[in-house]
Amino acid sequence: MLIDEQHRTLFTHVNQMLAAFDAGEAAQALEHLDELVMHTIEHFRYEEEMLTRSGYADLREHQRDHMMLLERTLTFRNDVAKGVTPLWELLQFLVSEVVVKHLIETDRQYFGDLARWTSATGTVAGR
Ligand SMILES: [Fe+2]
Repeated sequence: MLIDEQHRTLFTHVNQMLAAFDAGEAAQALEHLDELVMHTIEHFRYEEEMLTRSGYADLREHQRDHMMLLERTLTFRNDVAKGVTPLWELLQFLVSEVVVKHLIETDRQYFGDLARWTSATGTVAGR
């Protein structure tokens, strides 16, 4: 379903970033980061729309998580570009905070509610 597909796309961009970093291609890693940010913004927007439509109880907290993750990612992105922060710190943040803590753990909290809503309403766009 669409949210799962979007998550897989985000994982692909993270993997491409890590591969570029491993190969010593910092500029390419940042290009993948910019694609990752673009897809993440689209994904968060879509996810929030689905959670809003389904009446998800913890919507506000989830939206705060999204906003905080995007703000921290963009701050890291600027600091890496200025040479203030090493790229590996940004990658570590993306893997641990965005992928593991949010996309894998936090997002899992709404899967059951959203699945029940899509099943009850016949909505096909959810998880
Ligand atoms: Fe989310």
